[in-house]
Amino acid sequence: MRDAISALPASKIRQVANSGLGRDDVLAFWFGESDEVTPEPVRAAAMLSLARGETLYSHNLGLAELRDSLRRYTEALHGRLGDDRIAVTSAGVSALMIATQMLVGGGDEVVVVVPVWPNLPAQPAILGASVRRVGLAPDASGAWRLDLQRLLDTVTDRTKMLLLNAPNNPTGWTLGRAEQQAILEHCRRTGTWIVADEVYERLWFGASARCAPSFLDIATEHDRLIVVQSFSKSFLMTGWRLGWMVLPAGFIEAAGKLIEFNSSCAPVFVQRGGLAALASADTTVPELVGRMRHCRDTLINALRALPRVRVAAPEAGMYVFFGVEGENDSLAFATRLVREFALGLAPGAAFGAEGEGWLRWCFASRDPARLTQGAERLARGLSL
Ligand SMILES: Cc1ncc(COP(=O)(O)O)c(C=O)c1O
Repeated sequence: MRDAISALPASKIRQVANSGLGRDDVLAFWFGESDEVTPEPVRAAAMLSLARGETLYSHNLGLAELRDSLRRYTEALHGRLGDDRIAVTSAGVSALMIATQMLVGGGDEVVVVVPVWPNLPAQPAILGASVRRVGLAPDASGAWRLDLQRLLDTVTDRTKMLLLNAPNNPTGWTLGRAEQQAILEHCRRTGTWIVADEVYERLWFGASARCAPSFLDIATEHDRLIVVQSFSKSFLMTGWRLGWMVLPAGFIEAAGKLIEFNSSCAPVFVQRGGLAALASADTTVPELVGRMRHCRDTLINALRALPRVRVAAPEAGMYVFFGVEGENDSLAFATRLVREFALGLAPGAAFGAEGEGWLRWCFASRDPARLTQGAERLARGLSL
């Protein structure tokens, strides 16, 4: 096996989850998904597709109807895209891998802002690239901030790709418009590609817009920018494995070739589900965000009442990331919370050394009472 593969770290979230295996008393908030199932009309569309016998391979880039529908959805949020810029993929993680395969090879330099979902830095490392990390840091309130100048100083003309996940998993950190503008202009000068993972853009709690600021709002079709998107989070479709990417003009054929060599195509019945999800997005997404906002506020209020906890309300996403004073081994602490208090959280160290001493709590739930109950268990765990 290649050294780059042996060196990949095992998932610390899985490690914590495995310590609760076989127990049904654990309140689990460790994974990045809601406990709500996909809405019925979306499931019905997929079943109808299967009943019609849509079981064969389809186009590498996705069904024409789905690509059209995604274009209209994206243009409604971010303005005109132009033709042939969207490729459908087998989930966001595959779009990220395809973008990485397209842009970097052995020895290339990649910069990534962390803490972050571990798959982001792992993918270029798998391909043999060298990955430099720029750390966000928490302020006194517990909100995570970017040192923009440090990021710009790190990205040079040797940097092939800058990987940004904002709104961010796990911290909830979001890039502001002025920061995006500065990053885009800097990367134009250095010739660096921006791969923007914006899968949480619609889970946005800001008052004034339908989604978080996106690089698509300010880039042209000729910028070196790939935006990665997913049906998983805003449409409650994690298990379906459906996503898409927005590419610059002229790159769609390359994406199609790579999709051929990765998964060949997304399953047609899954794509039919995606079409149904987009058809009702104008109502389902704001309703979901309303429920999520209530969950976020319930959890934040409960955590703020606890001793030793440092926490800020995230503006976006589905996670509360909180620091616990005196706990410097988040993996050991999260494991103890499972074993002794039946509470399942993700250790901050799973997202990089910068997250050590912190815990991630996914608050996306059908039933906010579960969050209150979980916070009571945490209170007991903290008082030991
Ligand atoms: C930041 C980020 N990007 C991408 C994904 C991938 O989502 P999926 O592969 O389910 O589309 C996730 C999932 O947790 C994520 O947290």
